[in-house]
Amino acid sequence: MNSLLITNIKQLVGVEYIPSKIRKGKELSILPTIENAFLLVENDKILDFGSMENCPKRADEIIDATGNMVFPTWCDSHTHLVFAGSRETEFRDRIEGLSYEEIARRGGGILNSAKRLQNTSEEDLVEQAFARLNEVRGFGTGAIEIKSGYGLTVESELKILRVVRQLKTMTDIPIKATFLGAHSYPIEFRENHEGYIQQIINEMLPKIAGEGLADYIDVFCEKVAFSTEETDRIIQAGAKYGLKPKIHTNQFNCMGGIQTSVKNGAISVDHLEVVNDEEIECLKNSNTIGTLLPSAPFFINDHYPPARKLIDADLGIALATDYNPGSTPSGKMPFVLSLACIKMRMLPEEAINAATINGAFAMELDKEVGSITKGKLANFFITKPIPSIAYLPYAFGSDLIEKVFIKGKL
Ligand code: NIG
Ligand code: FE
Repeated sequence: MNSLLITNIKQLVGVEYIPSKIRKGKELSILPTIENAFLLVENDKILDFGSMENCPKRADEIIDATGNMVFPTWCDSHTHLVFAGSRETEFRDRIEGLSYEEIARRGGGILNSAKRLQNTSEEDLVEQAFARLNEVRGFGTGAIEIKSGYGLTVESELKILRVVRQLKTMTDIPIKATFLGAHSYPIEFRENHEGYIQQIINEMLPKIAGEGLADYIDVFCEKVAFSTEETDRIIQAGAKYGLKPKIHTNQFNCMGGIQTSVKNGAISVDHLEVVNDEEIECLKNSNTIGTLLPSAPFFINDHYPPARKLIDADLGIALATDYNPGSTPSGKMPFVLSLACIKMRMLPEEAINAATINGAFAMELDKEVGSITKGKLANFFITKPIPSIAYLPYAFGSDLIEKVFIKGKL
């Protein structure tokens, strides 16, 4: 048995006594904290927490956190962390006036990354992705979802998911894997959508399920990618193997992707830069989480999701990075929180809940992470001295996270 005691915590943030449901609407702004607190960890779990008045006297290791706060680590429920190389030439093209969709239509974008990934070895991909995983851990991320989608061939989609499987053995951070073979049509299938869909359904899915490589299925439902009907078919094919949907939709167009996802019991619908009243109504009557990814519109200079409208409609929303080489070459959750507050008018408390407990729900990891709760994993970070909770998203460029603990280990 090994115990760790954090004492004199200025504010212990995101405490939860009884694990509850996803935070929706007004509940999103309720962020329970304890002032002048302690946190006791035993092995990899949270054993106890409370006010310093009730602080235990002994532990194997004691850290004095005077002046600093403790938060549950971020739950980044949407990333494409396994990719090869980078795409700063397209970054230049966009500065010179091309849009993200135009670049995709020219065969750049996702196809550009797919070509590179197909020519990169599994070993090399593991090395690149592991470096990114360690980088985001330093930003305070303590649970993460990782998608395939830059393979677009049977062999390369499997390669990405095997990389994710390997990453799981290399880190203590809980990882969920999502199969996103339907990210884009490969060039050779541009005029033969049916051919690629058959490949996804008849070749990729059985192999992925056979090796148990994925937890979820994703489709990029968009004009430049897969139609609603195609999305529907692919989701249903995934369901036969027990893969629940988490769907990219409403990034540029409202075309029924939300309705299709909700109908199929999606865990989440992600992006939502554009969303109409009918779609909000549809989400209201479901358990599907809306996952907002504000660093994507930041990077491609697009408009932000209407977070206020979604929260005021009583929806449950999560925040994630979308870390990928095309629309978000950044896995920095604290910056996502700042964007959420600055550009989407989310309150700091709402942003923190959306980036922790609701992110955990968006990966079905709510029993393990997302809050400071007895019995959950001891995944938390200690900040540098900060005057208040709001200071974290406010001081958007500063690195305010001092120590990150995953399963009780620094
Ligand atoms: O979530 N929109 C689809 N997929 C990624 C970006 C893909 C890319 O440009 O490489 C996203 O933004
Ligand atoms: Fe994405």
